[in-house]
Amino acid sequence: SESTATQIGSLSPKGAGGVASKDVTILYGSQTGNSQGLAKETAKRLENNGFNITVLSMSEFKPNQLKKIQNLLIVVSTHGEGDPPDNALTFFEYLHSKRAPKLNNLHFSVLALGDSSYEFFCKTGKEFDQRLEEFGGTRLYPRFDCDVDFDELATEWIQGVLSSLKAGGKESIFKAAAALQTVETEYSRKNPFQAEVLENINLNGRGSNKETRHLELSLEGSGLSFEPGDSLGVYPENEPALVELILNELKWDPETTVTVKQGDVRTLKDALLSFYEITILTKPILEKVRPLLSNNELQELLTPGNEEKVKEYIESRDLLDLIRDFGAWGETAQEFVSVLRKIPVRLYSIASSLSSNPDEVHLTIGAVRYEAHGRERNGVCSILAAERLKPGNSLPVFIQHNENFKLPKSPETPIIMVGPGTGIAPFRSFLQEREEIGAEGKSWLFFGDQHFVTDFLYQLDWQNWLKSGVLTKMDVAFSRDGDNKAYVQHRMLEHSRELFEWLEEGAYFYVCGDEKNMAHDVHNILIEIIQKEGGMSRELAEQYLASLQQKKRYQRDVY
Ligand code: 2AM
Repeated sequence: SESTATQIGSLSPKGAGGVASKDVTILYGSQTGNSQGLAKETAKRLENNGFNITVLSMSEFKPNQLKKIQNLLIVVSTHGEGDPPDNALTFFEYLHSKRAPKLNNLHFSVLALGDSSYEFFCKTGKEFDQRLEEFGGTRLYPRFDCDVDFDELATEWIQGVLSSLKAGGKESIFKAAAALQTVETEYSRKNPFQAEVLENINLNGRGSNKETRHLELSLEGSGLSFEPGDSLGVYPENEPALVELILNELKWDPETTVTVKQGDVRTLKDALLSFYEITILTKPILEKVRPLLSNNELQELLTPGNEEKVKEYIESRDLLDLIRDFGAWGETAQEFVSVLRKIPVRLYSIASSLSSNPDEVHLTIGAVRYEAHGRERNGVCSILAAERLKPGNSLPVFIQHNENFKLPKSPETPIIMVGPGTGIAPFRSFLQEREEIGAEGKSWLFFGDQHFVTDFLYQLDWQNWLKSGVLTKMDVAFSRDGDNKAYVQHRMLEHSRELFEWLEEGAYFYVCGDEKNMAHDVHNILIEIIQKEGGMSRELAEQYLASLQQKKRYQRDVY
């Protein structure tokens, strides 16, 4: 794997040999479901080896129970500029508060997920790891920091944790150890299903600045199922034209073989097409290239103190730029690919409900195209969907369950949904589901995009649901039709009284779409609305919203 295993501090002898209890608590903090999936995988593995496992989302865990735990495993991701996932916030803050306890009996290990193309790689995991040590805990196994291609390293961590726990518990555990090679009966992340493309259309009208694809895939024969709010994982392929350009810069025959991982030998061309990430540069990649290439400019760029320049260089540049700017590296094709990350899977919020479209899964994918450093750049998976996937083709997929984005248990409960742009996707699934089950609860949708005429995604669906009463209210903001920019949060503010009344009646509030700008602004407007309509101070309004979040009445699926 290209990910880094970071070994921090040393394992105390206590850690290696003294973990006698067979009770293990696994806590996860997950935004997109990756950490949750790995926590469950860890739980299964340990259970098969005779351990008693409690696995919980951090938001379900009462921090004052921490003192009672002997063995704690943490699986947590990092988002945006080093932020914890929503469901890790309370526990994270607890560990940074004065109430945090002495934990001298605690044995722990952290699996951190992140993305090395961001500056604060795995920051949340690192902080958990550090705090637990500061409170007196002992590492039973070192923290692993996983990049987007986390599978192999995560498997290694699970194995390491298991061995360490076994060494602690000695004789009691070995009875179960020999057996239980778990067979994947179902299609999964590790064993994706080849889903046939049934339909692929552009939702935007002619003249739009955007291209949003509506993709319908068949799940027939897969046995896969999902709930509204879940995501579909997609294994994408790089653009053949870009791979050609890279191969042209290299001295090796495209048919030369490379070993991409143990037992997986491919031609160089195929490896670049479907195994390695070629569209993103990261600092770790540059650092791995450095010793393989005697290039003074690259040496210079990577000297300490140049961090800002490195950041600027890797921004919107790709593998082809790197080769063209500094030359190709490596004695062999194998050495050349050794610096690359595995291409990460893409997660898309599902836009359909199984009860209304059995054996199908629908996606809403915005095509990403932009110009940078004198070249056209294309999003990997979105352009695959926009330009190359035709009905009859197939795509390797799996279901990523997301318990952080779920309809209320009761069909009577009112829901408010904010989903501008492709953020609309899960709400089509929500309403399809509510229609199918005959839900009586009120629903209110906020949608926004650039232009009414060309960008009103799924317009007919909403209009029909408004007519039939499945959708109670809809407010739209077309940002480039008028003189002033109108965004979804402006519509929320215009209806602040009613919105607050819905919240007071118990409505669930959902946000899906752009994280950095939209979700952030919507969050702040929501606090403003609560403050104004509830007659509260800013602080009380923040507490009100935090308490909604705690009760899962404020859920976000943002990217
Ligand atoms: P814009 O493109 O005119 O800036 C979906 O992409 C819609 O979200 C577009 O209308 C886009 O407007 C809008 N949008 C952009 N930034 C936003 C923000 N911070 N809050 C809410 N909507 C935003």
